[in-house]
Amino acid sequence: MSLQIVRTVADLRAQVAAWKAAGERVGFVPTMGALHEGHLSLVRLARTRAQRVVASVFVNPTQFGPNEDFDAYPRDEARDAELLAGAGCDLLFAPTVAEMYPDGFATTVTVTGVSEPLDGQARPGHFAGVATVVSKLLNQSQAHVAVFGEKDYQQLQVIRRVVRDLDLPVEIVGGPTARAEDGLALSSRNAYLTDAERPIAGQLNQVMRHAIAELNAGARVDAVEAKAVAALEGAGFARIDYVEVRDAGDLSRLGPGPVDRPARILAAAVLGKTRLIDNMAV
Ligand code: PAF
Repeated sequence: MSLQIVRTVADLRAQVAAWKAAGERVGFVPTMGALHEGHLSLVRLARTRAQRVVASVFVNPTQFGPNEDFDAYPRDEARDAELLAGAGCDLLFAPTVAEMYPDGFATTVTVTGVSEPLDGQARPGHFAGVATVVSKLLNQSQAHVAVFGEKDYQQLQVIRRVVRDLDLPVEIVGGPTARAEDGLALSSRNAYLTDAERPIAGQLNQVMRHAIAELNAGARVDAVEAKAVAALEGAGFARIDYVEVRDAGDLSRLGPGPVDRPARILAAAVLGKTRLIDNMAV
């Protein structure tokens, strides 16, 4: 299957308009590239919902903090394009920074509530960068349906909020997290892990699974969270940003006692130079 690559909003819109005029449904998978099986599963999911699939690859500078890995973030467009074509993607939108943020750009989309705890605290400004670029990408692509990975669960909930609040005419679908055999959630940043760190990284998910089993058996949230943090410290993680059990919808805090509503356990921890995140339904 051949993959069309466009770099301007005008070219993207022209192709999407042509598909829509032919009565075709359009799906969209925004990414920052360095694609892996997790991204490709989102493309395949989009394909089940639409006749045409657009993916974007744009390493968005505004969602990286000053001391984060924007410069080091892995970039390989030729490889990404080949993988996208193989997964059934029709069009790759790969804009430049100047196309996305032309001179004079002055608008930011900020979301209160759901974007404030967890990564909102650990990465100030991150979700404003995500909400702004995703609002732009959804508006640029004019897709009927957009698919985002549940791996970035807080991001997914922030995007759902933006789409509802700004009446964006697009259906948002969450795709399940793809994992390695030991449970490690697939992530472009896993490429930073050394051989020695890789087995330790898998323990993040193992600790979370153990926590879920305890919660399901009626254990208190506060005790389970504290135990999980201690287990990650013991495993060799240098910094634990959070391990928290939160409301599955708005990510508000639960009480300290046993889980009393649909919940999600979310964790972020640093191993060497790599910051890992993961989450699972409780
Ligand atoms: O999840 C990502 O890869 C990015 O945050 C996204 C949604 C493409 C916005 O830059």
